[in-house]
Formats: sequence, structure tokens, C-alpha cells
Amino acid sequence: MDGRDWSLFLQPYEQAVEELKVKFKTMRLELKIREAYAPIEFVTGRVKRISSILEKAKRLGVATDQIDTGIEDIAGIRIMCQFVDDIHRVAELIRNRRDLQLVYEKDYITHYKESGYRSYHIIVKYGVQTALGYKDVLAEIQIRTLAMNFWATIEHSLNYKFKESLPEDVRNRLKKAAEAAFQLDTEMTSIRKEILDAQTEFEEQSNVVSRVLGGIQDLYFYHRVREAAQFQMKFNELFEQADYPGLNSLSVDIVASLGKAKKGSQS
Ligand code: GTP
Ligand code: MG
Repeated sequence: MDGRDWSLFLQPYEQAVEELKVKFKTMRLELKIREAYAPIEFVTGRVKRISSILEKAKRLGVATDQIDTGIEDIAGIRIMCQFVDDIHRVAELIRNRRDLQLVYEKDYITHYKESGYRSYHIIVKYGVQTALGYKDVLAEIQIRTLAMNFWATIEHSLNYKFKESLPEDVRNRLKKAAEAAFQLDTEMTSIRKEILDAQTEFEEQSNVVSRVLGGIQDLYFYHRVREAAQFQMKFNELFEQADYPGLNSLSVDIVASLGKAKKGSQS
């Protein structure tokens, strides 16, 4: 291929990367509106440089006219997430899309690489409409946390700078750093879980308070003034002590009283 052929060859890949970037950025915006939280933090994309394509073709023994099937990451998309759980959510969203065809997945999170590298990779087939017709191209989607991305970016630039000749000691320290990055992800996940649990607990507490006060109102409606006043006093006492199990059983008692009051009003 001469220079002009290369830009012609790469054009559908450029288009695929641009389109996929827009689609995943849109997915981020949509989820943010729908759920007030986006499992996607940010999205990047690139087309592999010609020199890297040629190097990889040589390394894998791929003939020049087989490059479009033999090299899967000419078009590359990277999706960064806050939490490891988000990676699986995004992978599922990708599997369910109709504009992408899943080719295969590589779970480098469970089976991290010797270097310490962690990410979730999905190879997809994506159809682009060019001026001359429709063309399927392969693309590699890498999904990772911010911590995984931080590690991979620095490790890549060190490897690049030192041309694969990193001293053994440096390699080992990078492996340890990858482990530390993963521990950071694990810790953040457990902090997040605690926050979510605290939110649920807070909501449950507000709910029991409105159930009790609503029930007392209803008792007044059925002229059960004495009972209502007693429940109110009990509520004040339990609320003062922040006794939520107590408030829960008070709510059960109020419902029972209300049941009797309603029956009484019918007879
Ligand atoms: P290349 O590694 O791209 O030559 O292709 P491959 O067919 O061996 O695929 P693999 O799944 O091993 O890697 C695909 C991509 O994942 C790479 O192009 C990198 O972007 C990324 N990757 C894989 N291993 C590492 C690693 O040890 N460090 C970093 N920084 N990135 C990695
Ligand atoms: Mg590799």
C-alpha cells in the first residue's frame, strides 16, 4: 500500500472511532439524566498509527491484505468508569446494542495480565456507511476504572520510553503498583456501598416516621382521641431516643388500632 492507499484504508476506521465516541458519550449523558449517576466517567478513542499496525502485522504474521481481519484494534475506544461494578454494567449495555456485533470478550480484570494490567476488553464488529457503501470494521473497546487507567497510562509510557527493556526491579514495582491500584478500587467500592446503605437506612427511617404520624392523624379522624394522644406521647419518647425498631413496632400497633377503629365506625 502506498501513502494514499493507507489514508483510504484507514478512513472507515476513523469514521468508526468518531461515531463510537459520540455514541458512548451520548450513553453517558442519557444515563446521567435517567439515573442521576453515569457509570461512564469519560470516553476516548484513537486509530492505531500506521507504524504500529505494520509492527503488529509483522509480529503476528498477518499479510498486508489481511490486516482488516487480522488486527482487531485498529479502531480503539476506551471507556473509563468510577467503579468496577460500572464496568460490568457498561459491558452489558454494549452486549445489548443492535448497532454493534460482539466478536469476543477478554476479562483482564479477573485474569489480569502478567504485567499487572487490568481492563475489560470487548472486540466488536461495527458497520460504517461510507460514500462508496457499507463496511464492517473491527474495533476494540477497553473498559476500565480510573485507577486501572492511571496505572496503564503510566506503565505504557514507561514501556514505550524504555523500549520493553524495563529492569526486573521496575517491573516488579509496577506489578505492586497495579495491586495497589486494584486495592484502591476495592476500597472505593466498599465505601460506596456503605454510603448507599446509609442512604437506604435514612429513607427507611423517614418512612417509618411518616407512617406513624399519618396513622395518628387517621386515629383522630376516627375520633380515637385518647389512643391517638397515647401513641403521640409514645412517638415523642421513641423519636427522642432515635429508637427506630421501637418506632417500627409502634407503627404496627397503630395499624392494628386503626383496623379496629375502622371496623367500629362501620357498625
Ligand atoms: P497488543 O497488546 O495490542 O499488541 O495486542 P494483543 O493481541 O496481544 O491484545 P491484548 O489483549 O494483549 O492487548 C490489547 C490492548 O490492551 C493493548 O493494545 C493495550 O492497549 C492494552 N494492554 C494489554 N496489556 C497491557 C499492559 O501490560 N500494559 C498496558 N499499559 N496496556 C496493555
Ligand atoms: Mg498484547
